[in-house]
Amino acid sequence: MPAIVLIGAQWGDEGKGKATDILGSQVQWVVRYQGGNNAGHTVVLPDGQDFALHLIPSGILTPGVRNVIGNGVVVDPGVLLEELSSLEARGVDTTSLMISADAHLIMPYHVAIDKVTERFLGKAKIGTTGRGIGPAYQDKVSRVGVRVADVLDEKILHQKVEAALELKNQILVKVYNRRALDVDEVVDTVLAHGRRFVDRIADTRLLLNQALESGESVLLEGSQGTLLDVDHGTYPFVTSSNPTAGGAAVGSGIGPNKITRVIGILKAYTTRVGSGPFPTELLDAMGEHLRKAGGEVGVTTGRPRRCGWFDAVIGRYATRVNGITDFFLTKLDVLSGLERVPICVGYEIDGRRVDEMPMTQTDVHHAVPVYEEMPGWFEDLSPYRDFDELPTAARDYVHRIEELVKAPVSAIGVGPGRDQTITRDV
Ligand code: IMP
Repeated sequence: MPAIVLIGAQWGDEGKGKATDILGSQVQWVVRYQGGNNAGHTVVLPDGQDFALHLIPSGILTPGVRNVIGNGVVVDPGVLLEELSSLEARGVDTTSLMISADAHLIMPYHVAIDKVTERFLGKAKIGTTGRGIGPAYQDKVSRVGVRVADVLDEKILHQKVEAALELKNQILVKVYNRRALDVDEVVDTVLAHGRRFVDRIADTRLLLNQALESGESVLLEGSQGTLLDVDHGTYPFVTSSNPTAGGAAVGSGIGPNKITRVIGILKAYTTRVGSGPFPTELLDAMGEHLRKAGGEVGVTTGRPRRCGWFDAVIGRYATRVNGITDFFLTKLDVLSGLERVPICVGYEIDGRRVDEMPMTQTDVHHAVPVYEEMPGWFEDLSPYRDFDELPTAARDYVHRIEELVKAPVSAIGVGPGRDQTITRDV
C-alpha cells in the first residue's frame, strides 16, 4: 500500500474524517496536502468521544501514526496551537505531528482581508469560512507569502511582513476603512507562536519520500471537495486550492506515480455550504428533513448546510477528474424512512438533455436535474454490518449509484461511529 488519496467527491463535508480515521489504522503516515483551518472533520471514537479537527490530520487520533501538514497547506499558527492544546487536554499524544517548512502561514492580515472582502462583495460573496484561506493563497501565488520556515529567521520574517503590510495596510485603511496593522506586533505574535512549534518544522517531502521508499504507506487526506477545487470546481464559488487528487502530489511533494489508490467520499445525498450553484438543492420541507436527519451543520462555521438529492453527474465527474478507484458512500442510514429516493441522473439545460458536467458556469447555473426515482426503505440501517443483509431497496440504491458514477463502492457508512461501517470487497 504505497500512497492513497482520500478526496471528497462533492462539495465537502462528505464524512472524510471517519474514512481517514478508519484507514489511519492501516497506514503509517497521514498527510494534509491543501486547505487550512477552513476544513472540519468530526471523528467519533469507539468510546463515544467526538473530536472536531480543523487543521491537524485525523491520523492524530490513531496511536503510532505519523502526521504531516504538507507544503500545500496554509497554516494559521494560533489555530494550530489551540488545536494541539485541546487535543493534548483530552489526552491525545500529538508528538508525531510535523509541519512542512514550505507550508504558508495565514497571517492576521489575511483573516482581516478575507472578512472585509466578503462584506464588500455583498450579494456576490463566495460565502468563505472567513479564515483567511483565499488571501493566504493569493500571497503564495503572488510570491509575497510568509512560510513556516520564516519563523526560524526573525530578520527575514520582519522584512517579509514589512513588505506585505506596506500594501495590505493601504488596502485595509483606504479601501475598507479598517485599522492598519503594526509590523512589529504581527512579527512578535508570529514569532511567539512559532517558538511553540519550532521542533515540528521539517522537510516533510524528504520524510515522506523516504517513508515510501522503505515500504511504508501514506494516506493523503484531502479537505473540502472536488466541486470546491479552484480548477475543477464550481468557480468562482470554490476554495483557493486543489483538493482533487492531482493536488495531493503537489501539496505533499511525492511523485504522482506513488499514488495507487484514490478513494472518493460520497454522501448518499448532497450538501453544500456557502454560495454557488447546486442543481439538486431542495428548498422545501424535504431539504429541511435531510438537514435535520443528517445533522447537516458546518463543523467549522456552524452554518446550516444546503441539502439536496444525490447527483450522479457530479459523482461521475469526480471519478473522472480524480481518477477515483473506489468510493466510500457515507450516511446511507439518513435516507431511511423515505417512500421514494430520487437520484439525479442528468440535467436539462435550456431544453437540452446533458449527461456530463456542463462546460460553462452559465450552464451549471441553468441546470435542472433529471431524476430517476428509486424505491425507499424503512429499516434503521445502523445495526447492519453486512452488505448482503441490507434491505433490497438500500442495496439497489447503492448498485445504481455505482453504475452511474462508474466506480465501485467499497465501504458504506450507516452511522456516525467508527464501527458503523459496512465494508465490501470490490
Ligand atoms: P474558503 O475555503 O474559506 O475560502 O471558502 C470558499 C468556499 O469553500 C466557501 O463556499 C466555503 O463554504 C467552502 N468550504 C471551505 N472549506 C470547506 C469545507 O471543509 N467543507 C465544505 N465547504 C467548505
